[in-house]
Amino acid sequence: MSFDTVIHGGTIVTADGQFRGDIGITDGRISAVAEVLDGGVERVDAGGRLVMPGGIEAHAHIAQESSSGVMTADDYLSGSVSAAFGGNSSFIPFAAQQRGQSVDDVLATYDARGARSVIDYSYHLIISDPTEAVLHDQLPRAFARGITSFKVFMTYDLMNLGDGGMLDILEVARHHGAITMVHAENNDMVKWMNRRLADKGLTAPKYHAISRPQLAEEEAINRAIQLAKLVDAPLFIVHVSTAGGAEIVRREKFNGAKLFAETCPQYLALTRDDLDRPGMEGAKYICSPPLRGHDTQEALWHHIAMGTFESVSSDHAPYRADATGKFLNGPDVAYPKIANGMPGIATRLPYLFSEGVVKGRITPEQFVALSSTNAAKTFGCTTKGRIAPGMDADIAIWNPDVARTVTHADQHDNMDYTPFDGMEITGVPEVVMNRGRTIVAHGVLKASEGQGRFFGRAPVDLRGKPGFTAPEFDTAQNFGSVLR
Ligand code: URP
Ligand code: ZN
Ligand code: ZN
Ligand code: ZN
Repeated sequence: MSFDTVIHGGTIVTADGQFRGDIGITDGRISAVAEVLDGGVERVDAGGRLVMPGGIEAHAHIAQESSSGVMTADDYLSGSVSAAFGGNSSFIPFAAQQRGQSVDDVLATYDARGARSVIDYSYHLIISDPTEAVLHDQLPRAFARGITSFKVFMTYDLMNLGDGGMLDILEVARHHGAITMVHAENNDMVKWMNRRLADKGLTAPKYHAISRPQLAEEEAINRAIQLAKLVDAPLFIVHVSTAGGAEIVRREKFNGAKLFAETCPQYLALTRDDLDRPGMEGAKYICSPPLRGHDTQEALWHHIAMGTFESVSSDHAPYRADATGKFLNGPDVAYPKIANGMPGIATRLPYLFSEGVVKGRITPEQFVALSSTNAAKTFGCTTKGRIAPGMDADIAIWNPDVARTVTHADQHDNMDYTPFDGMEITGVPEVVMNRGRTIVAHGVLKASEGQGRFFGRAPVDLRGKPGFTAPEFDTAQNFGSVLR
């Protein structure tokens, strides 16, 4: 066999194990994996380092307006470059519907934006306006293009669907084999807290964390799961930030719910104390759900190690700490008027590697599962997330020994800060490839604008998820096929 590239002398790590071996690449795909491979137009010496599937970032807001109209600082060029430096070979940002907009219109807009990406990309569709035409005409069309995941919100006045709207989406998703992703926070609990805090004049950034109680997440996670169970639809809970929420996910998974979940580095690395920095510094740490306490960090790590979460995702939501982003509504406005979100697409994997693998909380195999393989399975990326013949040559070579301090400069994004500034981390993705092309090598960008390709996705992989029939939908117990 002739190879364009052979990666040799590394330790190949998959979600199931590790072995010394070489990888042959032909026409952008892995064509051979063997103990020793000769040949190759180009030979990449992995020098005993870890050779892993390139990261798949499954939660990022790129060239996306927030619900209140603030545009993210990163577009598909800067966002994908930052992702590549962070060890990612592909990503799946959101294509967000504003109310009144058709899904076809949304996708045309994002196709124009996505064309600048340096890494392969797909979209999760955010649905804020599930009209009849959206549900039964436009969503099926998006699904046919390989957009097989739809995100909905239980919070934010301009985004949340109500339980009935969620059931409608869940049922359409189930019918097509799509997966519904949900931002789970109880909107009325948050609004009630906001009114109380406003009445007392408590408007500094730190009150953002108080305004979105842990109970609001736990209640909404539980409700979302029951809604999904009613229609026996798969559900993905994004950015779980509470121990209670993780416990509910764990219990429901054990009881057979078709359930998937992620958490994010910010909930592991930062706490609500960061919101209480001097002046308006705390605004940089406003995200939803909000940062919690040290006890939550410990609990979430425990759940990562136990397998409660499929993925650790960044929720990269880059709003600069200036008048284009966080302070669009003024320099010292009340917390509800500050854009929600923080950047982290370049730090997700280095942080997870350092605090997870290097500190012994997770194995390298778990790192691969959490960073790439599980996202590929959950979101139907059939040619990504694994090192095996026939797969895309999306590969990251990690040096596990390099220690460094996180700085904003090495994020390579379009932001003006990183919330992870100054953290000491160990392990760096030295070489990152997408479809056999080197996109980052030893801190230098090798990719050019627009070389990433859109990829359509397959239905969610529900192997090992037996499902649930609500008694009221059980034809043996009830009135025949009245309900379905
Ligand atoms: O605070 C965050 N995470 N902002 C991004 C939008 C969202 O809620 O996912
Ligand atoms: Zn969210
Ligand atoms: Zn503290
Ligand atoms: Zn998000």
